[in-house]
Amino acid sequence: MSSARHIQVPDDASRLPMTLPRLFEKKRLGEPVVMVTAYDYPSARAAEAAAVDLVLVGDSAATTVLGHTSTTPVDLDEMLVLAKAARRGLKTPLFICDLPFGSYEVSDEQAITSAMRYVKEAGADAVKLEGGNPMSVARARAIVSAGIPVMGHVGLTPQTATALGGWRAQGRTGQGAARIAREALALQEAGCFAIVFEAMPSAVAAEIMPQMQAVVIGIGAGPSTDGQVLVFHDLLGIREGLGARFVKRYANLQDEMDAGVAAFAADVRQRRYPAPEHDYSIDQAELERFKTARAG
Ligand code: KIV
Repeated sequence: MSSARHIQVPDDASRLPMTLPRLFEKKRLGEPVVMVTAYDYPSARAAEAAAVDLVLVGDSAATTVLGHTSTTPVDLDEMLVLAKAARRGLKTPLFICDLPFGSYEVSDEQAITSAMRYVKEAGADAVKLEGGNPMSVARARAIVSAGIPVMGHVGLTPQTATALGGWRAQGRTGQGAARIAREALALQEAGCFAIVFEAMPSAVAAEIMPQMQAVVIGIGAGPSTDGQVLVFHDLLGIREGLGARFVKRYANLQDEMDAGVAAFAADVRQRRYPAPEHDYSIDQAELERFKTARAG
């Protein structure tokens, strides 16, 4: 496990907010783009402190913070609560909010309305939607035409994982790889400024990359993409089990949380907490006055 203790991050004061022109400049210069998910104020503060470029309030919140077994149950109102909290913890990263399942598929109007709620209510800079089929491409085009930047997402798209045959890597056949390439290009042509490539062979991602003018953020797509994203709870080990093959774990916070709460419980049971240093005092005369008043 890597130690995060002594890693240098760019000086807070000299850091400029990430904008689309700065993001494309990073791509042009070949500088790796860093993206992480966040779902509340403390996770956003950690992303800000690490000077990441992009923060996504992912619908992975459904599993990581809301305890569902898939991403489909979370709705836009729940996501907005999380997005507003994350926004309060951020100053410089580009702030992207994930359109949850059921908030954009029905019509262009529904998609634009949902995207606008994220912008107006949570201060989103951009929204993300899943899939590169004609419906998703049409919704991306509609939201872009309403003036809201859109990030696409191809490969393993968790909202439709059942239809894809389960939670598994995509593009491992010639036909599957061709579908991913087609979808990525269609989203790019629809105006997406960035596209997530999730869980696909690195050779497939590398083959598609030369055609991508959009910024490509990989998660389980190898090293050729413009940047990388991991889910906050996966990279910090705030979860049971190891997660997907592509996850690299940088801490074991679930173990630390379990140990901390267990130590508190033991202290209370053994009457070690609270100790004198946790007490508030009262002047002796005031205490006597209180006691006398009660007695009388
Ligand atoms: O919901 C999410 O966290 C995501 C990222 C994995 C890209 O879509």
